[in-house]
Parts: sequence; structure tokens; C-alpha cells
Amino acid sequence: MGAHTIRLEPGADLDGFRTAIRHLVPAGIPPETVTWIEGDAASLFPEEEPTEPGPPLALPRAAAALIPPVVMHRDPERYGLLHRMVWRVARGERHLAEVASDPLVHRLAMMRKSVARDLHKMHAFLRFRRAGEGAGGRERFAAWFEPEHHILAEAAPFFSARFPSFDWSILTPDGSAHWDGRALRFGPPGRREDVPEQDAFEAGWTDYYSSTFNPARTNLAAMRAEMPKKYWHNMPETAAIAGLVREAGRRTSEMIARAPEAPVKRVPARALAAMAAQEPASLEALNAIIRASAPLVPGATQAVLGEGPLGADIAFVGEQPGDQEDLQGRPFVGPAGQLLSRALREAGIDRDRAYLTNAVKHFKFEQRGKRRIHQKPGAGEVAHYRWWLERELAFVAPRLVVALGATAVLALSGRQVPITRARGPATFDDKPYRGFVTVHPSYLLRLPDEARGEAYAGFVADLRRAAALAAEPRAA
Ligand code: URA
Repeated sequence: MGAHTIRLEPGADLDGFRTAIRHLVPAGIPPETVTWIEGDAASLFPEEEPTEPGPPLALPRAAAALIPPVVMHRDPERYGLLHRMVWRVARGERHLAEVASDPLVHRLAMMRKSVARDLHKMHAFLRFRRAGEGAGGRERFAAWFEPEHHILAEAAPFFSARFPSFDWSILTPDGSAHWDGRALRFGPPGRREDVPEQDAFEAGWTDYYSSTFNPARTNLAAMRAEMPKKYWHNMPETAAIAGLVREAGRRTSEMIARAPEAPVKRVPARALAAMAAQEPASLEALNAIIRASAPLVPGATQAVLGEGPLGADIAFVGEQPGDQEDLQGRPFVGPAGQLLSRALREAGIDRDRAYLTNAVKHFKFEQRGKRRIHQKPGAGEVAHYRWWLERELAFVAPRLVVALGATAVLALSGRQVPITRARGPATFDDKPYRGFVTVHPSYLLRLPDEARGEAYAGFVADLRRAAALAAEPRAA
């Protein structure tokens, strides 16, 4: 067996990898004989001549789906690991990528997760600063960001979709992206000094963050996990954090002392309206506004936000958080949520890779003795929360949104439609995603025992259909 050297472009060279793999695997060249090098790194062995790309390899979806994210990982072994996976799949292990316990698959899955997390952080934590005028007098903005992986090309279209109307540049130590209102261009690495310091736009964010900071909920570990310190220097609002945290102990004691006479202070409606008028730049910023806003119906413990990765293929919209969701601060964790999790599993949908949210973000209930009894939100309440839901789904950008029950249909379409009529594939006005309507899992819980089995089977069948609609074949 001779030694082979494949040279790829620096960074995430998906095209180069595809061309090489379509040659290596059909030619029977095993992974252990191949050295992958990037950019102008020196090679010890003669290099393979570039070849015409062969036809795409027919890979199962799960295996093909691992390739693009893993190629973005910074690990120099990534191409060799992917070669090993494709090699084994081509030699008969067709379901390899689904075997989570296989050490190679486990490693690739961790790499994909790390890249997904990095993309989420870049979308959430990147901040633009004013940088003068662009072409034709358009406003120009610049941002500095240090991604962990090679994600710039993947992350940039999100920003041109969010900020189409001003010119911007994103500078990173590996490369830069530039938007002029029409096209995205990629260029050489930038330097942090090329991005201006804080501006007035940012000062507004800092004030807003200080006014919404709740000292009683200071949980530094959670704050760090959500917003790692590494990114703080990009983010104007974090300039306020150190002082706020130092002050938290004192402010909490004061809050407790004042509690009997003063209800929890919410951000004034005017401040919220001003924030909303600025259009939140990320899901994080949107969530900060939801967290700070008062529930329409008093009593709820906290806002329950959506959960799941940005860019999830499929999103589920329920009605509103229930008792357990309100206490735990997470969607679909109570009885209806557990039934939903089971049905998702049976339909082959990985809950962790889907996005789950609700039409209404606060729990509406009636207190009866010690029990809090769920109350259906009215049409006006649903309308009030539509603003969040629309923006939230725009940030997540799923391919398909599943409405669970009539309240979700009302929130997504603005129309009251009986589920029996709307059930199945649907279109929600001019939305960029496809729609699907099915029943709410709590409807199944309310059915008499003898009717539940069949209704549950129908629900699982709906979820399977929805998953098939959300899936798109991908070739390696
Ligand atoms: N029902 C919903 O609609 N959403 C939840 O999060 C829980 C129950």
C-alpha cells in the first residue's frame, strides 16, 4: 500500500473533501494510507494529482449529514476521521452513523455538536459597531469575532438575512465576510483594532441590560455557560456585568426588604417598545426582552422560552407553558411534554435536534386551593405574543414548523381553524418555512382510555409525515 497525500484549502474545504473522497473510496484507497494537509503545510510524500470529481457517493442521510459540520471543526484530523466513516459505510456498515456507541461516530457527533454550539454563539454574541459610511452613503458597521471553528462562511448568510439594509464587515482571525446590500464576499483575516470602540447604539444596550438585570437571579455559572467570558469584550451590555454582579448581594437584600410593599419591578412598557423598535439582533436579545416583559396574566413564575438549536430542521409550537414548565422554566417538561417526547422518539425525531416553543410564553391559570388549573389563552393574548413567535422562528429558521393544536394554528396563521379541517401539511401565509398541523398532546391525555391508543397512533403517524417533509436528501 502506497502513501497518499491530499492537499486541501485552509479552513473548511467541503468541496475539496468531496472531490477527494469521491476519488479515494471508489479507488479502494484506505484511510490509513492517506495524509490530509491544509494550505501550504509541507508534505512528506508526493501529492495526489487533482482529479475530476467522481459521481456523488450514495450515503445514508445520517452519514451525509455529519460531513458539512465536521469539515468546519478545527481538529486537523477531521478529514481523516470522515474518510474512515465513509470508508466503513461504503464497505457495508450502512447504518454506522446511527450507532452512537461506536467510538468514531461518537467523536464525529461531539465535533458536530461543538460546531453547532459555536454557530449559535456567533449568531447570538456578535455585535456590530458603527464604522462610518459605506457605498452610496449607506451606513457601515463592523464586528470582531473569534470563532472556535471554521464557521464564518456558514454563519455569514444569517447576518445578511438579518441586516440586509446596511453595509457590514465581520472580521475574524481566520478570514472576513463583507456585505454591501447585494452580495456576500469573503476576504483575508482581520484585526480587532480595525473595529471601532463602543458607540451610542451600544450605550443603549448597556442601559437596557442594566435595567433588566435581576440581582435575585444572579447565577454566575449559568451566565458564563450561556455567554462565555471570551465573548464579553464584543458585547456592550456585558460591560455592565462586573459591576452588576458585585452589587447583586446588596441589591438582593434590598429587594427582599422592600418586597412586601413593592411588586416585582418590570421594565417600563416604553423601554420595551424602544427595544422592540430597534429589532433584536439575535435570539438572545429577543429572549432578553421576553424575560423582562410582564405576563399578560399575573401569577406566572417566569417566561418560558423556546429550546433547541438554531437552524433546527423542524420546530414545534405548542399553546403555552403548563404548571411544570412554569416552575422549571423549560417548555414541554410536564405530562403533555413527556407524551410528546415519547411520540417524537417513536416517530424517529431527535428531540434535542428539534426546536420547541409555545405560542404564549407565560402560564395562564386559575388558582383552586393549592392547585393551579390551566386556562386557555384568549385570542387577544395569542395576538399579543405573535410578535415574539414570528421573530423567534425567523432566528431559528427551521424548514418546517409543526403547529400542535388550535392555539398554535391561530398564532402561526392569525386564523381560528378547527384542527379536524387543518390537520396535515399547511402553509402559514408568506412564511419561509413549510407548515404542518396536528393535535396537541394534552388533547390525547384528556381522551377516555379506550380512544387514546388509536388517537396516539395517528399523532405519531403525523409526526413521521412531518419529519419526512422536513427532511431533504443530501449527497456527499
Ligand atoms: N403544553 C404546551 O402547549 N406547551 C408546553 O410547554 C407544555 C404543555
